[in-house]
Amino acid sequence: MADERLIVALDFHKFDDVKNLVNDLGESVKFYKVGMELFYSVGAGVVEFLKERDKKVFLDLKLHDIPNTVAGGLCSLMNLGADILNVHAAGGFTMMKTAGEKVREEAARLNINPPKIIAITGLTSINQDDWNGLGYGEIKISDQVVRLAELTKSAGLDGVVASPQEAAQIRQACGKDFLIVTPGIRPAGSDINDQSRISTPAAAIKNGANYLVVGRPIRAAQNPKLAAENILKEIGDL
Ligand code: C5P
Repeated sequence: MADERLIVALDFHKFDDVKNLVNDLGESVKFYKVGMELFYSVGAGVVEFLKERDKKVFLDLKLHDIPNTVAGGLCSLMNLGADILNVHAAGGFTMMKTAGEKVREEAARLNINPPKIIAITGLTSINQDDWNGLGYGEIKISDQVVRLAELTKSAGLDGVVASPQEAAQIRQACGKDFLIVTPGIRPAGSDINDQSRISTPAAAIKNGANYLVVGRPIRAAQNPKLAAENILKEIGDL
């Protein structure tokens, strides 16, 4: 069975590109991430397409609004059958707590397993200069990320999205059952693109990540299946 720890990011805007990549990767990849670019252009049909192929789906729409709106939005997305949904931790404790509670209530009412709800701590593309520009004061990104992870846990959500560079600190602060999903994964020698706080697949897992989100290193590879399999091999024994 495919190693579910690898989540391939489908950052496309055409359905045909999704179909081609999912067909190319075949049984090697079980988990896919659908983000804004794809969802806004293709719509909910892409989740249906993946579910029909028995894939798992992380619907990465990063909700950030008032508690009632986020809770309602998540309940609508849950009905599509996504396995992981997310919000911005910067939306605050009350928003996260309300959202988690409403999703669990609605799942119980529908008699389905609730999706995992995780929170974005800091975008992995943000560097310390970007961070300072936000005016939150003189706090190190990594300290703020850990603080937001703790806030997420106290609000009753399942985990966070964070840079692999912060995974070890989050694991230590939030315990073994807290999910850590890390984008910003770059196999040795691959292009960094616009990411900033990156690590290799093996280092991310060793630092405590449960899931690796990988986009361009697979999508833009000459042979995406081989690129995915190399990543799976790298983390295979970890
Ligand atoms: O192509 P690449 O591997 O950089 O793709 C990373 C994916 O993870 C993108 O879909 C991006 O939106 C997402 N992501 C991220 N940083 C976060 C949250 C999500 O890069 N903090």
